[in-house]
Parts: sequence; C-alpha cells; structure tokens
Amino acid sequence: MKAVIFDLDGVIVFTDKFHYQAWKKAADDLGVYFDEEINNRLRGVSRMASLEIILERYEGEPLTERQKVEITEKKNETYRSLLSTMTPADVTGETRETLAEIRRRGYGIALGSSSKNARYILEQVGLTDAFDEISDGTMITHSKPDPEVFLTAAGLLGQDPADCLVVEDAEAGIDAGIAGGMKTAAIGDAVRCGKADYELTALSDLLGILV
Ligand code: BG6
Ligand code: MG
Repeated sequence: MKAVIFDLDGVIVFTDKFHYQAWKKAADDLGVYFDEEINNRLRGVSRMASLEIILERYEGEPLTERQKVEITEKKNETYRSLLSTMTPADVTGETRETLAEIRRRGYGIALGSSSKNARYILEQVGLTDAFDEISDGTMITHSKPDPEVFLTAAGLLGQDPADCLVVEDAEAGIDAGIAGGMKTAAIGDAVRCGKADYELTALSDLLGILV
C-alpha cells in the first residue's frame, strides 16, 4: 500500500451526536419517529439519502422536492451551529499521532468523506494540514456505497486504487472501498459487517498494518 484514504465522521471525529440532534429536530418537526438505530443507518450516506431513510416512517402528505431541499437545508443549519462548537480538543492525541506517523512513514494521506461540511470540520479541529488531499461531498455526484469519493481521492493522490487503504466506520464506506478496488480497514460500527480486509479496535492499529 502507498496511500491511506480516511473517512471523516466516525473515524477522525465523532459528529454522529450532532447529526443525531439535527436530524431529530427535523424529524420532530415532521412528526416522524427517529432514534439512534435509524441514525446509525445514516453513516456514510449523503444528506438527501439520509432524509429519504428518515422519511421511510413518514405518513403525512407526500413532500415535494422543494420541501425536501428546505428540510435538508434547515437540518444543515442546525448541524453547522453544533459543529461550530468543535475545537482541536475534539480530536484525540492518538488520532493526531497516528496521522503524523503514517505521513512520516511515507504514505500519502487523503480524506474521502461524503460530507459537504468536511473542510469546515477539519478547520474547526485544526486537522486540514494532516491531509495531502481532500475528496468530499462537494466534489461528487454519487455518494457511498458508490466508490466515486474514494476514486477521486486516489486520483488526487496520483495513486492506483489497488495501492490505497480505505479506513471506514460505515458498511456503505467499506462497500465503496471494495467497489473501488481498494483495500479496506473497518473501525467501530463497520467491523460488524465482516467485509473489510482489516478490523481495527483503535486507529493506531493502522501502524501495525502500514509498516
Ligand atoms: C457522512 C456522514 O460523513 O456525511 C453521514 O457519515 C452524512 O451521516 C454525510 O449524512 C453527509 O454529511 P453533510 O455534512 O454533507 O450533511
Ligand atoms: Mg463515517
């Protein structure tokens, strides 16, 4: 392997709680049931696809595309105001040191995130410079499990996908890595799917793989 492509939410930072709070507010406004289990299904999935998952339990008048866009915009406003509270203290020393050591060992490092807020989050936590390249939700038309965001990252790094390791907490992200012809490492929730080449209990486990 020559490069590592990291997912952001659930791997580098833990923004699930903010997504949950913001979607919960949107769901309450719509009168739709929403819980942590449904929130788990939103991992790696785009904003609009997340709304469609939440709407599986919606029983009101069918919503127009315009209304759906308004709901996602409002959700994003709530989410961004929660993100504005993030600081460098929201990234563990282990994460910072692991990224720095991977760079020291000569691997390329990219972000491969479905989020359109990825750059904002990296700025908030002071990690923008830890990545050589950033591929995010603003640059793609197909979200995970489509491999587009990772193939874009590999292209930016100038690496063959087969030489890249994708690190993911979402099954959709592991599927995307496999579809892109990359090696995959699962952490957190993604370990359960049993599809990844490597299973991590901590991010620093990568240092035993990327020798
Ligand atoms: C992913 C999250 O990183 O980004 C998903 O895991 C989220 O839960 C997606 O829906 C899109 O995020 P954003 O910030 O563009 O709404
Ligand atoms: Mg994730």
